[in-house]
Amino acid sequence: MRIIVNGAAGRMGKELLASIASGYCGAELAAAVDITLPEADAPVYTSLSDIKETAEVLVDFSHHSATDKVLSFALERGIPTVIATTGQTDEEKKMIEDASRRVPIFYSGNMSIGIALLVSLVKTAVQVFPDADVEIVETHHNQKLDVPSGTALMIARGVEDVRQNTTFCVGRHENGKRPAGEVGIHSIRMGKVVGIHEVHINTGSQTLTLKHEAHSRALFAEGALKAAEYLREQTAGLYSVSDLFA
Ligand SMILES: NC(=O)c1ccc[n+]([C@@H]2O[C@H](COP(=O)([O-])OP(=O)(O)OC[C@H]3O[C@@H](n4cnc5c(N)ncnc54)[C@H](O)[C@@H]3O)[C@@H](O)[C@H]2O)c1
Repeated sequence: MRIIVNGAAGRMGKELLASIASGYCGAELAAAVDITLPEADAPVYTSLSDIKETAEVLVDFSHHSATDKVLSFALERGIPTVIATTGQTDEEKKMIEDASRRVPIFYSGNMSIGIALLVSLVKTAVQVFPDADVEIVETHHNQKLDVPSGTALMIARGVEDVRQNTTFCVGRHENGKRPAGEVGIHSIRMGKVVGIHEVHINTGSQTLTLKHEAHSRALFAEGALKAAEYLREQTAGLYSVSDLFA
């Protein structure tokens, strides 16, 4: 599977090049692109429009401002495209939706298959135990800016999808009983922890705890390559991580 990587000089781009070099999912690097010329064992470019090589999938880990160029390239070359970049404006999200009517596009702010599976397992558990108390505890390194993590919110929204009257409580700190239907979200910041998400589901008579622990950024690169492998078999449409095990 020949891959073009956009954003190849960044942290995730380099991680993706390393996963490709290791042969993950049978991937091969066709070309690497970044506005800062990347280093790679394949032709390198500073603009997608200069690429001469062919490939089966484009994977983008760059910046949301590149969305229009990424989509133009995808449409001109008819190349299935994995957009792993986050932070798109509403206008850019609309551009992605429009383009997905003509070419397969995989778009997900969290490429971790383990996290997608965690959300799916939490939804199932909440359907089985609709009255259970649900508490999410996330732990990350001490340099992380956003609190709570976007992934903790994604898990909480997963509960909301399957249970009516769900409310969120971020960092419980006031006196009072725990309201029914509440999802508590708690954040721990310490050391160099890459990312831990634990979901406690308590029915009164038993507690089910589901836990995901990220060990390195490689999980996002591997998820993007799994997405690429899936996407090259698809027709035009908008796909996300949950489609990988639907
Ligand atoms: N979906 C996921 O699971 C996931 C996981 C981690 C990071 N991300 C997202 O991936 C993106 C990249 O993250 P990062 O940590 O590697 O950031 P980074 O800043 O280390 O790297 C971004 C790279 O993109 C390049 N770039 C910027 N504008 C460009 C353009 N117009 N064309 C080509 N290249 C351009 C930069 O030069 C840089 O090398 C971010 O949006 C981040 O939020 C997504």
